[in-house]
Amino acid sequence: MDTSKNKVFIITGAAMGLGLAAAKELASKRFYLTLVDYNEKSLGEAKAAISHEFPNVKIYTIVADVSDEEAVKNYVEETVKTFGRIDGFYNNAGIEGRQAGIAEYDISVFKKVIDINLMGVYYGLRYVLPVMKKQQYGRIVNVASVGGIRGVLNQMPYVASKHAVSGMTKNAALKYGRYGITTNAIAPGAILTPMVAEAFKQVNPDNPKAAETEYAQHNPTKRLGIPGEVAKVVAFLLSEDASYVNGQTIAIDGGESNIYGNV
Ligand SMILES: NC(=O)c1ccc[n+]([C@@H]2O[C@H](COP(=O)([O-])OP(=O)(O)OC[C@H]3O[C@@H](n4cnc5c(N)ncnc54)[C@H](O)[C@@H]3O)[C@@H](O)[C@H]2O)c1
Repeated sequence: MDTSKNKVFIITGAAMGLGLAAAKELASKRFYLTLVDYNEKSLGEAKAAISHEFPNVKIYTIVADVSDEEAVKNYVEETVKTFGRIDGFYNNAGIEGRQAGIAEYDISVFKKVIDINLMGVYYGLRYVLPVMKKQQYGRIVNVASVGGIRGVLNQMPYVASKHAVSGMTKNAALKYGRYGITTNAIAPGAILTPMVAEAFKQVNPDNPKAAETEYAQHNPTKRLGIPGEVAKVVAFLLSEDASYVNGQTIAIDGGESNIYGNV
């Protein structure tokens, strides 16, 4: 039996960047997808692009802000109503916030980063895990960051929220491993997405490309990652093959998180 057919996946932050790349990767395996994003226009464009490339894949889109608990409950319920189950959950939506020093950080931006990156991931777990428990099967990938395993200057709320994602991943893994559910996190380094392009603009508004080139020099591979490289790992962690990987935060960063000093 080809068990890869007709599995159902929810992807948050699916309109662009890492979410969109994962959606395309899963669509290429003919899975059914619920795509969630708060950017309605980009979400529509993402659906159109995926449907064009993979016309046989069923795609349901839901406009929702993951920091709104009711909206999260709704996208989970709607997915179960539409497709009958949830096999995999890519808990990906997140924002960077502004880059600023600790004492100067704008408190309202700080709280927004925590609301989306920490509470949004938690709400997703809160409503998806019981569905998977009933099924006695599920695969979850939460998106942390290298900022979830080490400090990053000028990004305190981001680093705090991503360490929390790694922590919540461990807790969910401990509690739900017995129900056939695995919960893991990924810790991407700098991957070329709209979020990272915006970060380089903040670092060097006059020449973002120079900031990108300079950053890449500190990576052992001397380059940034691309979304498809992350999507392949995510697809594996969301597959039946990853059945004994649980509670891990897996760096996808070209080896950057191992560096001590310059290389
Ligand atoms: N790109 C990287 O280098 C990198 C590195 C480490 C971690 N990450 C993490 O990966 C995830 C995706 O990042 P990306 O680079 O693809 O970003 P991106 O900004 O390119 O895309 C993020 C998508 O999420 C959506 N989104 C943001 N907040 C939302 C919310 N509250 N509700 C619903 N949708 C929301 C956006 O509309 C967008 O479509 C984030 O959690 C980010 O922190 C990215």
